[in-house]
Amino acid sequence: MDYDALLHEVAAQARPLVGQGQVSRYIPALATVQEERFGIAVADIDGAIHGVGDWETPFSIQSISKTFSLALTLARDGEHLWWRVGREPSGNPFNSLVQLEHENGVPRNPFINAGALVVTDRLQTLTGDAGAAVLEFLRAESGNPTITPDPDVAGSEAAHGDRNAALAHFMASYGNLENPVPVVLEHYFRQCAITMSCRDLALAGGFLARRGVRGDGSRLLSGSEAKRVNAVMLTCGTYDAAGDFAYRVGLPGKSGVGGGILAIVPGRCAVCVWSPGLDAHGNSVAGVAALDRFTTLTGWSVF
Ligand code: DON
Repeated sequence: MDYDALLHEVAAQARPLVGQGQVSRYIPALATVQEERFGIAVADIDGAIHGVGDWETPFSIQSISKTFSLALTLARDGEHLWWRVGREPSGNPFNSLVQLEHENGVPRNPFINAGALVVTDRLQTLTGDAGAAVLEFLRAESGNPTITPDPDVAGSEAAHGDRNAALAHFMASYGNLENPVPVVLEHYFRQCAITMSCRDLALAGGFLARRGVRGDGSRLLSGSEAKRVNAVMLTCGTYDAAGDFAYRVGLPGKSGVGGGILAIVPGRCAVCVWSPGLDAHGNSVAGVAALDRFTTLTGWSVF
Protein backbone atom coordinates (compact mmCIF):
# COMPACT_ATOMS: atom_id res chain seq x y z
CA MET A 1 0.00 0.00 0.00
CA ASP A 2 1.34 3.45 -0.95
CA TYR A 3 0.25 5.15 2.27
CA ASP A 4 1.69 8.55 1.35
CA ALA A 5 -0.34 8.78 -1.88
CA LEU A 6 -3.43 7.45 -0.09
CA LEU A 7 -3.17 9.96 2.76
CA HIS A 8 -2.62 12.88 0.37
CA GLU A 9 -5.80 11.91 -1.46
CA VAL A 10 -7.75 11.53 1.79
CA ALA A 11 -6.48 14.91 3.00
CA ALA A 12 -7.35 16.62 -0.29
CA GLN A 13 -10.92 15.30 -0.08
CA ALA A 14 -11.36 16.22 3.60
CA ARG A 15 -9.83 19.70 3.38
CA PRO A 16 -12.99 21.54 2.22
CA LEU A 17 -14.54 20.52 5.57
CA VAL A 18 -11.66 21.79 7.70
CA GLY A 19 -12.90 24.74 9.76
CA GLN A 20 -16.50 23.50 9.68
CA GLY A 21 -18.20 22.67 12.96
CA GLN A 22 -17.44 24.21 16.33
CA VAL A 23 -14.27 24.06 18.38
CA SER A 24 -15.07 22.74 21.85
CA ARG A 25 -15.74 25.63 24.23
CA TYR A 26 -17.07 24.01 27.40
CA ILE A 27 -13.47 23.52 28.52
CA PRO A 28 -12.19 27.10 28.01
CA ALA A 29 -8.54 26.06 27.54
CA LEU A 30 -9.56 23.99 24.49
CA ALA A 31 -11.23 26.96 22.78
CA THR A 32 -7.86 28.56 21.98
CA VAL A 33 -6.92 25.95 19.35
CA GLN A 34 -6.64 27.08 15.70
CA GLU A 35 -9.66 25.80 13.77
CA GLU A 36 -7.94 25.35 10.42
CA ARG A 37 -5.81 22.39 11.44
CA PHE A 38 -5.88 18.95 9.83
CA GLY A 39 -3.56 15.98 10.18
CA ILE A 40 -3.76 12.24 9.61
CA ALA A 41 -1.32 9.43 10.39
CA VAL A 42 -1.32 5.66 9.81
CA ALA A 43 0.80 3.26 11.86
CA ASP A 44 1.18 -0.14 10.25
CA ILE A 45 1.23 -3.21 12.49
CA ASP A 46 4.99 -3.45 11.93
CA GLY A 47 5.39 0.07 13.39
CA ALA A 48 5.99 1.93 10.09
CA ILE A 49 4.39 5.38 10.31
CA HIS A 50 3.10 7.71 7.59
CA GLY A 51 1.35 11.06 7.86
CA VAL A 52 0.29 14.23 6.11
CA GLY A 53 -0.75 17.74 7.18
CA ASP A 54 -0.46 18.59 10.89
CA TRP A 55 0.22 14.97 11.81
CA GLU A 56 3.09 15.83 14.16
CA THR A 57 1.32 18.70 15.97
CA PRO A 58 0.26 17.85 19.54
CA PHE A 59 -3.40 18.32 20.50
CA SER A 60 -5.55 17.47 23.52
CA ILE A 61 -6.47 13.77 23.29
CA GLN A 62 -9.48 14.12 25.63
CA SER A 63 -11.80 11.10 25.39
CA ILE A 64 -9.40 9.12 23.18
CA SER A 65 -7.60 8.50 26.49
CA LYS A 66 -10.59 6.35 27.53
CA THR A 67 -9.50 3.67 25.05
CA PHE A 68 -6.18 3.28 26.83
CA SER A 69 -7.53 3.39 30.39
CA LEU A 70 -10.05 0.70 29.40
CA ALA A 71 -7.36 -1.52 27.87
CA LEU A 72 -5.05 -1.13 30.87
CA THR A 73 -7.89 -1.94 33.27
CA LEU A 74 -9.04 -5.01 31.33
CA ALA A 75 -5.43 -6.21 31.15
CA ARG A 76 -5.22 -6.18 34.96
CA ASP A 77 -8.78 -6.94 35.97
CA GLY A 78 -10.27 -9.09 33.21
CA GLU A 79 -14.03 -9.33 33.08
CA HIS A 80 -14.63 -8.00 36.62
CA LEU A 81 -15.02 -4.48 35.27
CA TRP A 82 -18.28 -5.37 33.53
CA TRP A 83 -20.06 -5.68 36.86
CA ARG A 84 -19.67 -1.94 37.28
CA VAL A 85 -20.08 -0.62 33.76
CA GLY A 86 -22.11 -1.88 30.79
CA ARG A 87 -21.13 -2.25 27.15
CA GLU A 88 -24.21 -1.05 25.32
CA PRO A 89 -24.39 2.08 23.17
CA SER A 90 -25.97 4.90 25.15
CA GLY A 91 -27.78 6.79 22.40
CA ASN A 92 -27.16 9.80 24.64
CA PRO A 93 -24.58 12.61 24.72
CA PHE A 94 -21.24 11.72 26.35
CA ASN A 95 -21.90 13.76 29.49
CA SER A 96 -25.57 12.86 30.02
CA LEU A 97 -26.90 12.27 33.54
CA VAL A 98 -30.36 10.98 32.70
CA GLN A 99 -29.63 7.28 32.06
CA LEU A 100 -27.63 6.86 35.25
CA GLU A 101 -30.58 7.21 37.59
CA HIS A 102 -32.73 4.79 35.59
CA GLU A 103 -29.88 2.27 35.63
CA ASN A 104 -28.97 2.55 39.32
CA GLY A 105 -25.62 4.27 38.94
CA VAL A 106 -24.18 1.70 36.48
CA PRO A 107 -23.08 3.58 33.33
CA ARG A 108 -24.07 2.22 29.92
CA ASN A 109 -20.50 1.87 28.60
CA PRO A 110 -16.86 2.79 29.39
CA PHE A 111 -16.69 5.65 26.89
CA ILE A 112 -19.44 7.97 28.10
CA ASN A 113 -18.02 10.14 30.88
CA ALA A 114 -19.72 8.23 33.72
CA GLY A 115 -18.32 4.92 32.44
CA ALA A 116 -14.85 6.37 31.95
CA LEU A 117 -14.92 7.65 35.55
CA VAL A 118 -15.65 4.08 36.75
CA VAL A 119 -12.76 2.75 34.63
CA THR A 120 -10.38 5.40 35.99
CA ASP A 121 -11.55 4.56 39.52
CA ARG A 122 -10.78 0.87 38.97
CA LEU A 123 -7.40 1.62 37.37
CA GLN A 124 -6.59 3.85 40.34
CA THR A 125 -7.32 0.96 42.72
CA LEU A 126 -5.30 -1.47 40.61
CA THR A 127 -2.23 0.74 40.05
CA GLY A 128 -2.26 3.39 42.78
CA ASP A 129 -1.81 6.07 40.09
CA ALA A 130 -4.20 5.79 37.14
CA GLY A 131 -2.96 8.97 35.43
CA ALA A 132 0.66 7.81 35.54
CA ALA A 133 -0.28 4.32 34.26
CA VAL A 134 -1.98 5.80 31.18
CA LEU A 135 0.87 8.26 30.57
CA GLU A 136 3.58 5.63 30.92
CA PHE A 137 1.80 3.34 28.44
CA LEU A 138 1.32 6.12 25.88
CA ARG A 139 4.98 7.18 26.11
CA ALA A 140 6.19 3.61 25.68
CA GLU A 141 3.96 2.72 22.72
CA SER A 142 4.55 5.98 20.85
CA GLY A 143 8.27 6.04 21.64
CA ASN A 144 7.81 9.67 22.68
CA PRO A 145 8.94 10.31 26.27
CA THR A 146 7.91 14.00 26.10
CA ILE A 147 4.17 13.23 26.10
CA THR A 148 2.57 14.92 29.10
CA PRO A 149 -0.76 16.35 30.31
CA ASP A 150 -1.28 20.05 29.61
CA PRO A 151 -1.64 21.62 33.06
CA ASP A 152 -3.79 24.49 31.70
CA VAL A 153 -6.26 22.03 30.14
CA ALA A 154 -6.34 19.84 33.26
CA GLY A 155 -6.94 22.93 35.42
CA SER A 156 -9.61 24.22 33.05
CA GLU A 157 -11.39 20.84 33.09
CA ALA A 158 -11.36 20.84 36.88
CA ALA A 159 -12.57 24.43 37.13
CA HIS A 160 -15.43 23.69 34.74
CA GLY A 161 -16.00 20.09 35.78
CA ASP A 162 -19.27 20.40 37.68
CA ARG A 163 -21.05 17.93 35.43
CA ASN A 164 -18.34 15.28 35.73
CA ALA A 165 -18.31 15.87 39.49
CA ALA A 166 -22.08 15.40 39.55
CA LEU A 167 -21.76 12.11 37.62
CA ALA A 168 -19.05 10.89 40.00
CA HIS A 169 -20.96 11.83 43.17
CA PHE A 170 -24.08 10.23 41.78
CA MET A 171 -22.27 6.94 41.14
CA ALA A 172 -20.62 7.15 44.56
CA SER A 173 -24.11 7.38 46.09
CA TYR A 174 -24.82 3.97 44.50
CA GLY A 175 -21.55 2.56 45.84
CA ASN A 176 -20.07 2.35 42.33
CA LEU A 177 -16.77 4.15 43.10
CA GLU A 178 -13.95 2.70 45.21
CA ASN A 179 -11.91 5.88 45.58
CA PRO A 180 -12.90 9.36 46.82
CA VAL A 181 -14.59 11.46 44.13
CA PRO A 182 -11.85 14.17 44.07
CA VAL A 183 -9.17 11.49 43.47
CA VAL A 184 -11.14 9.92 40.59
CA LEU A 185 -11.77 13.32 39.00
CA GLU A 186 -8.13 14.37 39.30
CA HIS A 187 -6.88 11.27 37.49
CA TYR A 188 -9.67 11.46 34.88
CA PHE A 189 -8.91 15.12 34.08
CA ARG A 190 -5.20 14.34 33.94
CA GLN A 191 -5.65 11.57 31.37
CA CYS A 192 -8.02 13.68 29.23
CA ALA A 193 -5.56 16.62 29.28
CA ILE A 194 -2.70 14.58 27.76
CA THR A 195 -1.33 16.20 24.61
CA MET A 196 -0.26 13.98 21.67
CA SER A 197 0.02 14.15 17.89
CA CYS A 198 -1.64 11.94 15.27
CA ARG A 199 1.73 10.23 14.92
CA ASP A 200 1.90 9.44 18.64
CA LEU A 201 -1.72 8.24 18.85
CA ALA A 202 -1.56 6.02 15.76
CA LEU A 203 1.53 4.31 17.18
CA ALA A 204 -0.05 4.04 20.65
CA GLY A 205 -3.18 2.44 19.17
CA GLY A 206 -1.13 -0.15 17.30
CA PHE A 207 -1.66 -2.83 19.96
CA LEU A 208 -5.37 -2.91 19.02
CA ALA A 209 -4.47 -3.52 15.37
CA ARG A 210 -1.96 -6.20 16.49
CA ARG A 211 -4.73 -8.02 18.41
CA GLY A 212 -3.37 -7.07 21.82
CA VAL A 213 0.39 -7.17 21.22
CA ARG A 214 2.43 -4.10 22.22
CA GLY A 215 5.10 -2.43 20.10
CA ASP A 216 7.88 -4.33 21.91
CA GLY A 217 6.25 -7.70 21.14
CA SER A 218 4.90 -8.29 24.67
CA ARG A 219 1.19 -8.95 25.07
CA LEU A 220 -1.12 -6.45 26.84
CA LEU A 221 -4.44 -8.09 25.94
CA SER A 222 -5.46 -11.50 24.65
CA GLY A 223 -6.82 -11.59 21.11
CA SER A 224 -10.34 -11.84 22.55
CA GLU A 225 -9.82 -8.87 24.86
CA ALA A 226 -8.47 -6.74 22.00
CA LYS A 227 -11.50 -7.73 19.92
CA ARG A 228 -13.75 -6.65 22.80
CA VAL A 229 -12.10 -3.23 23.12
CA ASN A 230 -12.47 -2.77 19.36
CA ALA A 231 -16.12 -3.85 19.59
CA VAL A 232 -16.85 -1.28 22.31
CA MET A 233 -15.07 1.39 20.25
CA LEU A 234 -17.26 0.53 17.27
CA THR A 235 -20.54 0.54 19.20
CA CYS A 236 -19.84 3.30 21.75
CA GLY A 237 -16.70 5.23 20.72
CA THR A 238 -18.47 8.10 19.00
CA TYR A 239 -21.39 8.34 21.45
CA ASP A 240 -24.84 8.96 20.00
CA ALA A 241 -23.31 9.08 16.51
CA ALA A 242 -21.84 5.55 16.74
CA GLY A 243 -24.39 4.18 14.27
CA ASP A 244 -23.59 6.86 11.72
CA PHE A 245 -19.84 6.36 12.24
CA ALA A 246 -20.20 2.60 11.68
CA TYR A 247 -22.28 3.28 8.57
CA ARG A 248 -19.84 5.78 7.07
CA VAL A 249 -16.47 4.51 8.30
CA GLY A 250 -17.02 0.89 9.31
CA LEU A 251 -14.15 0.71 11.78
CA PRO A 252 -13.75 0.78 15.57
CA GLY A 253 -13.14 4.44 16.43
CA LYS A 254 -12.77 6.66 19.48
CA SER A 255 -13.22 10.41 19.29
CA GLY A 256 -12.29 13.23 21.65
CA VAL A 257 -13.52 16.80 21.94
CA GLY A 258 -10.00 18.00 21.09
CA GLY A 259 -10.92 16.98 17.51
CA GLY A 260 -8.96 13.73 17.33
CA ILE A 261 -10.28 10.31 16.29
CA LEU A 262 -8.34 7.05 16.62
CA ALA A 263 -9.57 4.26 14.34
CA ILE A 264 -8.39 0.66 14.13
CA VAL A 265 -8.14 -1.65 11.11
CA PRO A 266 -7.68 -4.98 12.96
CA GLY A 267 -4.74 -6.97 11.64
CA ARG A 268 -3.51 -4.06 9.52
CA CYS A 269 -3.02 -0.59 11.01
CA ALA A 270 -4.13 2.18 13.39
CA VAL A 271 -5.18 5.54 11.94
CA CYS A 272 -5.41 8.87 13.78
CA VAL A 273 -6.96 11.99 12.32
CA TRP A 274 -7.21 15.44 13.87
CA SER A 275 -9.20 18.54 13.00
CA PRO A 276 -10.71 20.66 15.81
CA GLY A 277 -14.14 21.58 14.36
CA LEU A 278 -16.77 19.31 15.98
CA ASP A 279 -20.27 18.28 14.98
CA ALA A 280 -23.22 18.37 17.39
CA HIS A 281 -22.23 14.97 18.84
CA GLY A 282 -18.67 16.09 19.67
CA ASN A 283 -16.95 14.31 16.76
CA SER A 284 -14.54 16.04 14.35
CA VAL A 285 -16.37 16.98 11.12
CA ALA A 286 -13.31 16.76 8.84
CA GLY A 287 -11.99 13.80 10.86
CA VAL A 288 -15.06 11.63 10.27
CA ALA A 289 -15.09 12.66 6.59
CA ALA A 290 -11.39 11.74 6.24
CA LEU A 291 -11.93 8.30 7.78
CA ASP A 292 -14.97 7.83 5.56
CA ARG A 293 -12.75 8.50 2.51
CA PHE A 294 -9.94 6.35 3.92
CA THR A 295 -12.14 3.27 4.16
CA THR A 296 -13.83 3.95 0.82
CA LEU A 297 -10.49 4.26 -1.00
CA THR A 298 -8.90 1.22 0.69
CA GLY A 299 -11.98 -0.97 1.03
CA TRP A 300 -10.82 -1.70 4.62
CA SER A 301 -13.64 -2.19 7.10
CA VAL A 302 -14.69 -4.69 9.73
CA PHE A 303 -17.84 -5.36 7.70
O1 DON B 1 -15.12 14.73 30.39
C1 DON B 1 -14.87 15.65 29.65
O2 DON B 1 -15.63 16.58 29.58
C2 DON B 1 -13.64 15.68 28.78
N1 DON B 1 -12.48 15.70 29.53
C3 DON B 1 -13.61 14.58 27.77
C4 DON B 1 -14.78 14.71 26.87
C5 DON B 1 -14.62 14.15 25.53
O3 DON B 1 -13.61 14.20 24.85
C6 DON B 1 -15.87 13.60 25.02
N2 DON B 1 -15.71 13.13 23.72
N3 DON B 1 -15.89 13.41 22.67
